[in-house]
Amino acid sequence: MSAKVLVLNGPNLNMLGVREPTLYGRASLADVEAACKTRGAALDLEVDFRQSNDEGELVDWILAARGTYAALVINAAAYTHTSVAILDALLAVELPVVEIHLSHIMKRETFRRHSYVAEAADGLITGFGAYGYELAVDAAAHLLKSSAKS
Ligand code: DQA
Repeated sequence: MSAKVLVLNGPNLNMLGVREPTLYGRASLADVEAACKTRGAALDLEVDFRQSNDEGELVDWILAARGTYAALVINAAAYTHTSVAILDALLAVELPVVEIHLSHIMKRETFRRHSYVAEAADGLITGFGAYGYELAVDAAAHLLKSSAKS
């Protein structure tokens, strides 16, 4: 059976493709989901993909991932920079975590350069647009392979 990876998306990412396209690109979230699933299938990973504008719902999904998913990929969007609750959930769930952002958060406003998610993540992919999600699924596969060896 394929290992399962949960890809979570935070607030306003349901507007992807329409929202500030010069910054976030023209691909829709459905396009990104399809790319993640294709990449996952090539790596023998089953990808589930979700989006919520609600911090509590994201926390619930992270905590419920324990026991079902082998790894998490997360673009917490604006909650990246504000949410101790999401950080605590990521620490509690004890799964490999890949943080992803479409834009290059280190090159943007000062308030975007700090990520609470980063404190729980194994690594960060930022600035590669929608393609970054495929890189993030690759990174999750890599983390799963490395943990299987140790
Ligand atoms: C984002 C970057 C965040 O700062 C912003 O609030 C988002 C999207 C990104 O993918 O580049 O909503 O996470």
